[in-house]
Amino acid sequence: MNSLLGKRILLGVSGGIAAYKSADLVRKLRERGADARVVMTRSACEFITPLTMQAVSGKPVHVELLDYKAEGAMGHIDLARWADMILVAPASANFMSRVAQGQADDLLSTLCLAASVPVIMAPAMNQQMWLNPATQRNVALLKDYQVTLLGPGVGDQACGETGPGRMLEPLELIDALAKSFLSDRMSGLKVVVTAGPTREAIDPVRYISNRSSGRMGYAVARAASEAGGHVVLVSGPTAIDPPEHVRHCPVITAAEMHNSVMAEIDDAAIFIAAAAVADYRCNQAADKKIKKDNDELELLLKKTPDILAAVANRKLPPFTVGFAAETHSLSDYAQQKLINKKLDMVAANQVGENQGFDTKDNELEVFWSGGGVRLERAPKEKLARQLIHLIANRYHEKNTAQAH
Ligand code: CTP
Repeated sequence: MNSLLGKRILLGVSGGIAAYKSADLVRKLRERGADARVVMTRSACEFITPLTMQAVSGKPVHVELLDYKAEGAMGHIDLARWADMILVAPASANFMSRVAQGQADDLLSTLCLAASVPVIMAPAMNQQMWLNPATQRNVALLKDYQVTLLGPGVGDQACGETGPGRMLEPLELIDALAKSFLSDRMSGLKVVVTAGPTREAIDPVRYISNRSSGRMGYAVARAASEAGGHVVLVSGPTAIDPPEHVRHCPVITAAEMHNSVMAEIDDAAIFIAAAAVADYRCNQAADKKIKKDNDELELLLKKTPDILAAVANRKLPPFTVGFAAETHSLSDYAQQKLINKKLDMVAANQVGENQGFDTKDNELEVFWSGGGVRLERAPKEKLARQLIHLIANRYHEKNTAQAH
């Protein structure tokens, strides 16, 4: 499967001799079916002309941050939203330093800061500059900000020296990029996802439920499967078809969802609780249809099992991700949930009028111990891929840390 097909890649070119390879990179991206747009820094234009990049990309090249003509065609925020991924190749020492310091003094650095999609950089510089502690500190900062670095390679440099600092070859970059899309980031891992609402019977014809459509959970299951995971989707009743290559376990009630999850969780590496589980069920559902004989009707409700807490409290829990839907104080509640429920990650979204439930778009604030990121409003499919990318990163980091 060609995972770059139809992907929108924003290729950033900063100033360095390796910029001559960027034209070939664009050509190869297009050959793989990716839609590539180029943004150049002013110093990159000293090494390769915007005209060359325009010819190979077949699209206008963007250079200036405050260019009324360019902003009219596609403004910088639109460009950041358009992209599925930003690849900066070559990334010079100066460019990396500017992004690490949070400077947004030109178009490309602004896009890197404004993006909620993965940002990948391919460093290219003289080996002494790469080894300099200041550059290494910037590298550590960028990694903290979830920027992925590809390379640099080691070898002969344009300046005549030998050492680390050479930009990876276009083909190496393309392969790494393709992997990070399809990626084998969850390859071989069992991922259990809950989705949709649950229904708790009041009598044989009525039930308690909520407005969840299941879209977000299904998109998460699909993205996890695209990333190579063996996905089990435990889903309450929804009107959507389960994604291909995903094992679908349909359930109705919270108790059934709990049982299904527990039957699957032993060998799961990752658990993602995207379901809007009903918090309460009727203590005793009526076995016959309730007649409206009285003006008032009392229902005695009982708490349902908290599936997420049950998984997180296991002796050897999988990497556990919860969702938090809140109408107010979103980040406070979400961070409390992270701690109280002993989660590895929580994805929080605002719900209310036309927000969160039963909508095509969503936005998320994602938190983990010691960090967090905001994923801007986007279709749920795109958000799900970004979330899976974050989960895979954190999962591998946690495992690497535990191995040491
Ligand atoms: N969840 C679960 N089982 C339940 C209830 C919730 O697995 N019985 C999961 C949801 O899938 C979601 C997270 O828990 O990932 C939501 O947390 P929760 O504390 O239940 O949210 P609220 O019901 O909104 O909590 P609060 O009472 O704080 O509003």
